[in-house]
Parts: sequence; structure tokens; C-alpha cells
Amino acid sequence: MFKKTFYTLLIGLFSASFVLAQPNTKYNAEVDALLKQMTLEEKIGQMTQLTFGIFSDNSQPKFNIRKDDLRKAIVQFNVGSILNNAQDHAQTMDEWHQMINTIQDYATKETRLKIPVLYGVDAIHGATYITNSTLFPQQIGVGCSRNTLYASEMGRLTAMSTRATGVRWNFAPVLEVGRSPLWSRFPETFGESTQLAQEMGVANITGTQGKSVADITAVAACMKHFIGYSGTNSGKDRTNAYIPETILRDVYLPPFRSAVNAGAKTVMINSGDINGIPVHANKKILTDLLRKELGFEGLAVTDWEDITKLVNRHRVAVNQKEAVYLVLEAGIDMAMVPYDYSFYGLALQLVKEGRISEARIDESVRRILKLKYELGLFANPYPEKAAIPNLYPKETDQAALNAARESLVLLKNNDATLPLKKGAKVFVTGPTANYMPSLSGSWSYTWQGTNTAFYPKGAQTILQAIQAKNGAANVTYKEGVDIKGEVKSTDQELLVEASKADYIIVCLGEDAYAEIPGNIDDLNLAPSQKRLAAVFEKAGKPVIYVLAEGRPRIITDIEPIAKSVLLAPQPGTQGGTAIAEVLFGEVNPSGKLAFTYHKAPNDLLTYDANYSDVVPENGNLSANQVGIQYRPLYPFGHGLSYTTFAYSNLTVSKTQLVGEADALTISVTVTNTGKLEGKEATDLFVTDLVASVNPAYRKHKGFVKNTLKPGESKTITFTLKVSDLTMTNAQNITLTEPGDFLIHIAGLEKTINYKK
Ligand code: BGC
Repeated sequence: MFKKTFYTLLIGLFSASFVLAQPNTKYNAEVDALLKQMTLEEKIGQMTQLTFGIFSDNSQPKFNIRKDDLRKAIVQFNVGSILNNAQDHAQTMDEWHQMINTIQDYATKETRLKIPVLYGVDAIHGATYITNSTLFPQQIGVGCSRNTLYASEMGRLTAMSTRATGVRWNFAPVLEVGRSPLWSRFPETFGESTQLAQEMGVANITGTQGKSVADITAVAACMKHFIGYSGTNSGKDRTNAYIPETILRDVYLPPFRSAVNAGAKTVMINSGDINGIPVHANKKILTDLLRKELGFEGLAVTDWEDITKLVNRHRVAVNQKEAVYLVLEAGIDMAMVPYDYSFYGLALQLVKEGRISEARIDESVRRILKLKYELGLFANPYPEKAAIPNLYPKETDQAALNAARESLVLLKNNDATLPLKKGAKVFVTGPTANYMPSLSGSWSYTWQGTNTAFYPKGAQTILQAIQAKNGAANVTYKEGVDIKGEVKSTDQELLVEASKADYIIVCLGEDAYAEIPGNIDDLNLAPSQKRLAAVFEKAGKPVIYVLAEGRPRIITDIEPIAKSVLLAPQPGTQGGTAIAEVLFGEVNPSGKLAFTYHKAPNDLLTYDANYSDVVPENGNLSANQVGIQYRPLYPFGHGLSYTTFAYSNLTVSKTQLVGEADALTISVTVTNTGKLEGKEATDLFVTDLVASVNPAYRKHKGFVKNTLKPGESKTITFTLKVSDLTMTNAQNITLTEPGDFLIHIAGLEKTINYKK
């Protein structure tokens, strides 16, 4: 017990000293001066966030603002923040400007203290709510690209567009690690590996926030959703997660820790429970862990309606007032209410009754005001004229296309079926062939991303891109079944078309979905689609599957029918073009799975399962026995190329590490042994051979991507610090335990030892 407290203290001191070393005191004087003038009502208003939807009439087809309601919110209730959009779909810059101008006019011309309003949106993979914007792959696709450049470019370019509309807060990135493939928000994660979430998350935040969030090219990022949201046991959105502290610390915490150290300005809280305790009401997590241990100084906002849900869903509060009490006690700064003034009224009562101190309120209001100063809102709350030309940054199309290209994962390519020769006769079929939402996923012009009317005219579906690339005369098409499972063609009709073609391209996968509407009961690919694929089993022509999906929908029984399988993990609006380029060999695929592609719905082991999950009873620990229990259809890190790569000369700068500050360098040579230029992503794994808690069979500890010409070799180096070898022990202390560790890259191994 003593040891734990002592160690926790040490960690606390360490993080505190990190924060104290670079105290963010800028604007403290301005904030304090303003705070002194504020009434309690004005303070609580600042902590209230409402959705713009309540200030717009959705029954009207046209964009409109209910000005009286909006004025009331800002002038009468001093509302500090507004989110979302007017009518749940993308808007023009002019519409955005009308909204922001109206809001800021009320705030700065009609309120006593002229405090500007902070506006936030979910621009989670590009400028999702700006009409005709080009969208990047979802984070899962960026994870598969293994290229941090796209995480940062997505952040940077999205920030430029967002700021041009006058909005200065983006609710991204998602830093949860995708551990449950059923989860409807799995595509919003960077994948199954903590390392991917950590490195990609930092790159994205750095891109989003730039050098300073005051710049007209930057916005504030938001780490989502602290913490453990993705660990849901049922796989259903916003449900309970049972996460032991050892796993919370080893798997879920590191991306947030790195993001805090990278300067993330805000955080949104997990809507679910961990071990039965809703995170919104969990002081240990929101204050002890987030503030004291990680040293986070920024703004913490609840998620959508989550205070009310403490009453009607989580059942930890008898009424709304107790729920408000719980979240304030736990440590939130802003309530995404988002429909009414319940938080405002109840928080006010709680302070007046003395149950919540005004000092506690001041703490949150300070953070909110500080962010507003940092974002330059006090200097100019309106859309900045100089930012307007950045609405559609000219690099976005190319950056999103490059990201889409590198996100695609070639899972199977028997007999080198791909790439196809241009001019080959192809029959294209399947529900995702001519359907943009499957390529782009959630938050694509609408929340669910399913309304095709809002997709830009220039964005090509897979079919359109294949026609453009291969000549329309060489392409025939029948939908087969649609995305809802309705049969559109008879087997006979399909087989007739197949008989006339050289290749059959079957486009399978999922519709777009976000949050609860994306819940599924079965990870299997829809039966209607499996049936469609099975029609071609005896067609006598090579079958190619394109899987346009955000989760590993199980295809084990139909996989043998296909010679080649190309995964398109929600590659965004440039995805159709990128897929056609890969199919016809203009682009050499280079994505690697950011998750395990499972074989069976009841065998959902992650790549880093514990030893006892993957090692056979005879206990033989040799690395190549990983296949004994971890036997997915395609493992984490799998991905083929049209060229081949070989690895040699794995070396370590030393085999003995001594003391917590020590580090070593790992190098390995990768050679392009094929005939084509290609990009190769190299994954580094480390195994703790003996630990006091059953260790992970292997942990992903690094990745890097290189372009290699035929015959070219490159030496790759990774630095591995003792602090990269940590695990959390039974006392919940995170440390590096002395002993042997195995370093592995592409089947090559080296053993090193650590001693204190
Ligand atoms: C989601 C968040 C999102 C928020 C605002 C919630 O339902 O969980 O990720 O940022 O809505 O749109």
C-alpha cells in the first residue's frame, strides 16, 4: 500500500514537474480580471454548451436561424459555447458565417461583459460539415496507412477549412484504442494498437493546433473520449466496459498522456461506464488521473446529454440536480447539455445552496476563458477575413487522395491476379460498388454519412472510378443486392454478365454509420452479401473482393472464392479513385492492417493477447508459435504489395539496458526484392518474456514507412527506451520490470535484458 502511494506520488510529482517546467500562464491576468467582474449566472452560462439545432427550424427546407431563441441563450443565459450545425447537414461558408456573425453580435454587442462564444464541430476526418469538401479516410484508414503524415495533414488542412468558417474548436481526434471490432465507432479509432493511437494522435493534434491556436490556420483539438469508451464489453455504443486498472494504464492511457504532453487544449468525456461507474461521475478518473497525474490544464467537456443520462440510463443519480452535482464534483468544466437550460438552473441552485463552491465553478470558468483568449476570440470573435481563402485548401484533394491510396490494404492476391491490365473486361457488382457512404463513413456531410445527396459531385464511387480508369465499354455493372440487403438482380442475370467478363469485382462491406445506429449483433458480413459472393463460386472467372467497411466484417466462409481481396477501410471521398488505381496497378498498395481481421465472431483476440491466450499447453514460447491460438483470417500488420520486401541484419546497439533512463537503437535492413517501386511499412514489436502480470505476447512499439525502388535497400532505426518497456503490475504501478525482452521485426528477433 505504502509502495503504491509512494509511487503514485512520484508519478504525480513527475507530471507536475513536467507541467511546472512550462507553466502556461499566458492570459492568466486577463482571465482573473474578467472573472472578478462576473456574476455567478454569467459564470455558469459560460459552462453551458447548446446545440445550434435548437436555434434553427428543421421543418423548413432552407437554412434559417431562430434569432429570438439564439439571442435569449446568449443574452439572457450567457451561454458560453454552441456546437453542431443548423440542420444536420453540411453548410456553405456563407451559412456558417451568418451563424457565427449572429452569435458573436449578440455576445459582444448585447451582453454586459462581451465574452465571445466558442463554437465546436465534429470535423473528424476533414471538413465534414462544409459543402463540397474533400474528406480524408476515417482514422482507421489512417492507422492502416502507417503514415503519420496523413494524421497531421488531416489535422492541419481540416483546421484551415474549419477556421475559415469561423469555427475554432474541432472535436477530434479519437484517442481510444479500437479493441472491440463490433463497436460502431471502431472506424473512428486509429486501430487496435496503443502505439498507433499514440503516434497518430500526437501528429493529428500537432497538425490541428499548429504553432499557436491563435493563428488563422489552427483550431483547438479535442481528445476523445476520456477514457475506456472503446473497451465496451457488449460491443454496443455507450455501454459498460470492464477494464482492470492494469489494462487501463497499459492499453488506454498512453495516447492521452502523449496528447496532453503534446499540448491538446481540450478533452471530451467517455459516455459509458468503466467497471459500473459512469466516467462523467468518476472523480478518480476526471480529477486524480486526468488533472493530477497527467497534468492536463485544458477544458473538459461532457459528451452529448450525458448529465441527463446519469439519471435515466446509468441510474447513478436520483434526479437531474444530483447528476449535475456528480459531474461538477468529478471535474467537468463544460456541459454539452445540449437542448435546454437544465444544467444552468441546477448548477446555480447547487452553488447557492453551498453544495458546490464558487471556487470550483471559477476553476472551470478560468479554463474556458483562457481557451477563448488563446484562440484569439477576444481579439476578433468573427470569421477572420484572412482565413476565408483557406476554406478549401488546395492541397486537400491530393493529401486526401494520397492518404486514401496508402490506407488500402491488399489482404490476398493469389496467382498475382492483381493488378489488372487496363482494357480487361470487368464485371462489377455488389452494394458498395456505386455507393459513396461505404467509402466515407460517419460524419460525412451528415452525422450518419448516409445521405448521398450531400456528397460532392466529383467524388467517384468505385464503379465510376473503374469506368474512368478502364474505359466504360470494358465495364459492366449490376448491383446484385443493395446495402440494405434487398436483392436487385437474379443469379442468372449475374452469371450471364460474369460469363462475358475476364474478371468479377465484387464490392462488399458496410453502409456508413455513427454511434448507436451503427450497433450490430453479428460481426459477420451481411448474409445477403455473402450470398451474392457465393453466386460466383463456380463462375469460372477470377473473383476480386473489394471490402468497403470500417470494421473487420467476417468473410471466412466466402474468402476462398476470391483470388484477391482489397480492403478499403473507409478511405474517404477519394477512396473510389484510389481503389481503381490500385486495381489497375497505377498505385502499388502499401497499407497494413491496423487491427486483427478475425476468422470467427467468437474468437476476437487482439494481436497483443496475453501469453496464456496464445501459448499452447506445453508452454513452448518460441515466437513462431503465435499462430497456435492467435489465428485470425489476417493478422494485425498484414498487408501485401505488388512487389516483395525482405528483411535482414536486425541489430541492437546493446543487449544490456541499465537504469530507467537507458535506451538502445534497433536497426534492420529492408530490401525491395521485386520489380516495382513500393512503399513498405515496418512494424516493431517487443515481448516481455517474464513479468509479474501475465504479459502480452507482443506489443506494437513502433512503425515507419519507406519508399524503395526495385533492388534498393534501406536501413531503418528505432530508438527503444526503458520507458517503452513498461507494464502495470498488480499494485497498479507502471514500471519496467527487470528481465529479458524479445525484439522482433518481420520474423527477425533479438533478445535484450534490462536491469535496474
Ligand atoms: C459524440 C461525440 C461528438 C458529440 C458532438 C456525441 O454524440 O459521442 O463524439 O463529438 O456528439 O457532436
